[in-house]
Amino acid sequence: MCGIVGTIGTGATTQILLKGLNRLEYRGYDSAGIYVNDQDGQDYLVKTVGKIAALEAAVGPQVQGRIGIAHTRWATHGQPSVANAHPQFSGSKRFYLVHNGVISNFTALKEQYLADQAFASQTDTEVIVQMIAHFVEAEAMTTLAAFQKTLSLLAGSYALLLVDREDPEVLYVAKNKSPLLIGLAAGYNVVTSDALATYDLTTDYLELRDGEMALVRASDVTILDQQGDTQGREPIEIKVEADAIGKGTYPTFMLKEIDEQPAVMRRISQHYLPVDQPIAIDPALIQHVAQADRLYFVAAGTSYHASLVGKRLFERYAQIPAEAGVASEFGYHWPLLSAKPFFIFLSQSGETADSRQVLVEAKRRGLPTLVITNVANSTLAREADYHLLLHAGPEIAVASTKAYTAQIAVEAVLAKAVGERRQLGAAQSFDLAGQLALAANAMDEITDNHQAWDQLAAEYLGSATDAFYLGRGIDYDVSLEAALKLKEISYVHTEGFAAGELKHGTIALIEPGVPVITFITEQATADHTRGNVQEVKARGGNVLVIASEACQQAGDQIVIPTLTDELMPLVTVVCGQLLAYYATLQRGLNVDQPRNLAKSVTVE
Ligand code: AGP
Repeated sequence: MCGIVGTIGTGATTQILLKGLNRLEYRGYDSAGIYVNDQDGQDYLVKTVGKIAALEAAVGPQVQGRIGIAHTRWATHGQPSVANAHPQFSGSKRFYLVHNGVISNFTALKEQYLADQAFASQTDTEVIVQMIAHFVEAEAMTTLAAFQKTLSLLAGSYALLLVDREDPEVLYVAKNKSPLLIGLAAGYNVVTSDALATYDLTTDYLELRDGEMALVRASDVTILDQQGDTQGREPIEIKVEADAIGKGTYPTFMLKEIDEQPAVMRRISQHYLPVDQPIAIDPALIQHVAQADRLYFVAAGTSYHASLVGKRLFERYAQIPAEAGVASEFGYHWPLLSAKPFFIFLSQSGETADSRQVLVEAKRRGLPTLVITNVANSTLAREADYHLLLHAGPEIAVASTKAYTAQIAVEAVLAKAVGERRQLGAAQSFDLAGQLALAANAMDEITDNHQAWDQLAAEYLGSATDAFYLGRGIDYDVSLEAALKLKEISYVHTEGFAAGELKHGTIALIEPGVPVITFITEQATADHTRGNVQEVKARGGNVLVIASEACQQAGDQIVIPTLTDELMPLVTVVCGQLLAYYATLQRGLNVDQPRNLAKSVTVE
């Protein structure tokens, strides 16, 4: 979502808003809309289903306005449709609202305040804007008072931009648990859910905190807390590397980001492991983690899969027991079974609501928190006690690739640093810089032969509707990530499965032709996994083995360089990423923006 107030010197209001939406499209793209109050005070509202291109086509000639808001939607309440697209508006068509988040009590509010109100949509957002209109039009409140009263009644998450067409000089803005930034430009101001939308308009932003609202005018911003008291706020600088945002010469963001992984490994090594110098991590963080008696990794999706590897890295190199949990399941695990826990959050976007909810509770309990993220000024980075950056460059494709390998590399750096602080031999002798260099070279080798992966995808996944990834130990961890990659972009129902567990029931699903891709890189488990491969072959499974040089046997289709066990996912995952990529292209699907998904899931 993005909004503008004031006259834009650099182009028409609709043009600036549409450009912002294009940059946010990867975050949600099932419908979109724009509202502008134009120079003559006329309303201009366009909403479409599908990608931003459909909205651009519908908008037509550029419209210069005094104020405007725009939104690209990832549906939470109500299917993708023009009626459910934002902006939502009041029955009187005086108020226009865009919203990111989920209001958990919108049905109760609808019944209490709007029982006789007709609704044009199924959204929780329309309930908000109709409530504001109700308090103004039926209870004679000012728009500010109505906005504040409505906010006081909402439960759940929201980032809101409201326009009162009878006062088109001010944007009413509010935030609770969903990201929102106010950009300060020359002669106008912008509001956005992500600086990516407005990075070429300004680098100076004001961050709103949970429960706060703001009155944003072309020349000033007033921030109010829930009691209506004015809050001071210093601007923060947010810079976005413009050239990193484009696809360059690549056909898709995903392929670009897969190919960037070797460079990311080298960048992480240069940044965190400077030659002949201490590891470049805050010594206070290292010490704080070193004192922990248990680590809790909390993440979602691909980041959760990277945290499974982090658990093994810390247990081996720092000798600290660790648990890795899915964020949305963690909320029910309090109290903890440790005297000195330390929370490590992994989040590429730094905005995942499931992860943030656990962070908020950990901080409330006074527990130490670190977030490893790719976005410096993200919500989690700002709220955690410590943060470490991935330095992976913006990741635009919805399917996360370089963030996974970068998270593992940064986890390894911290595990080594903590182990060294604990004077552990395993950490002191861990040649991490060398391993990351090997990983980068291995990634180069794998990504250099795209045609081979295209062919393998055709041969093993060509017409499949179901598939398995198998592995034991670290190979099981990476099987989960490889399976997520394949299913979330090609829609092939894929399971990452513990190879030894298959025979306890799920092997019933193996029938002739079912693709079973197996990672064998851990010498301690290789022989057992090969036994499981035989069980699958005996039932007609179409087996593709990806083995490390140290574990290879005749007949293995893919052999990859060997790294230390816990870092093998840096290499094996690239095979899974490329198989998923080409299987998806072969199905004629949109690799960068798969159906039903959004890049950053800021709702619980
Ligand atoms: C990854 O391919 C998925 N798109 C998704 O699972 C993602 O990893 C998850 O939503 C967590 O996002 P985060 O790393 O930004 O917190």
